[in-house]
Amino acid sequence: MAMAKPVLSLLVHLHAALLFLPDPAGVAVYNSLTIANSKNVVVAGVRSVDSELFHVVVLQCHGVTVRGVTVEAPADSPNTDGIHLHMSSHVSVYDARISTGDDCISVGPGNSHLWIERVACGPGHGISIGSLGKQQGMEVEAVQNVTVKTTWFTGTMNGLRIKTWGGSKRGFVTGVTFADSTMSGVDNPIIIDQNYCPDSSGCPGAGRSSSIRISDVRYVGIRGSSATLVAVNFDCSRSNPCSGISLQDVALTYQNRAAAKSYCRNVQGTTLGLVLPPSCL
Ligand SMILES: *[C@@H]1O[C@H](CO)[C@@H](O)[C@H](O)[C@H]1NC(C)=O
Repeated sequence: MAMAKPVLSLLVHLHAALLFLPDPAGVAVYNSLTIANSKNVVVAGVRSVDSELFHVVVLQCHGVTVRGVTVEAPADSPNTDGIHLHMSSHVSVYDARISTGDDCISVGPGNSHLWIERVACGPGHGISIGSLGKQQGMEVEAVQNVTVKTTWFTGTMNGLRIKTWGGSKRGFVTGVTFADSTMSGVDNPIIIDQNYCPDSSGCPGAGRSSSIRISDVRYVGIRGSSATLVAVNFDCSRSNPCSGISLQDVALTYQNRAAAKSYCRNVQGTTLGLVLPPSCL
């Protein structure tokens, strides 16, 4: 990142020693606040401004509550994820306000039993599960039992996203509920991207189908406007198609003016209630 600005959050200094812990996953270095190898931790009321890399990281923890965190960074600051969860379980995030240049919240591999509720995101790249399937030193990259409830996305690149790289890395994502979400001018409100390749070239598994299996993902009560024509995009793996995807009470328009579209590839699922754009499941 070109302009590394000083971090203003006071708490960051208290945790400075944690920044340089040996970290096999390579995610703890140069983040503003890292909680690592801990259990039963509460982080409340922290404000992080212009972090060099990720703002808040929860790494290899059990039982962490992150409450009332505010994150601020420019829309064009790369790798400045707001809150990144990694190899952790029983983590809850409540009442976060995140404006940043990368994912507002990212859920990396090895996470389970997460509860994320009341998050305002924008600008930013949305709330993402993944990316998974890039070699990160784990035998199997798994994410399970995640609830993301009551979220607001304003002018973000994505809303609710699951992303995996192509290639043979084994893993799965299962038991995810995305409920009660409002989108305002979001490029990709609902997206599963199993051909994730952020710079469109030079990606490790580019062109190969992903070995990450995605199943049992529910979208309930998702409304608002897409900034692009395709509001619901399920681009799943040829070798491991998505299964058990469900859409219930979804109402997304194209720029508040026109009907949006859905895109489906290698995906099986069901719909319930009113679903707009009409589903291709
Ligand atoms: C899923 O995670 C939540 C915590 O977010 C937990 O309360 C619940 O028991 C978990 N469900 C299962 C089936 O493990």
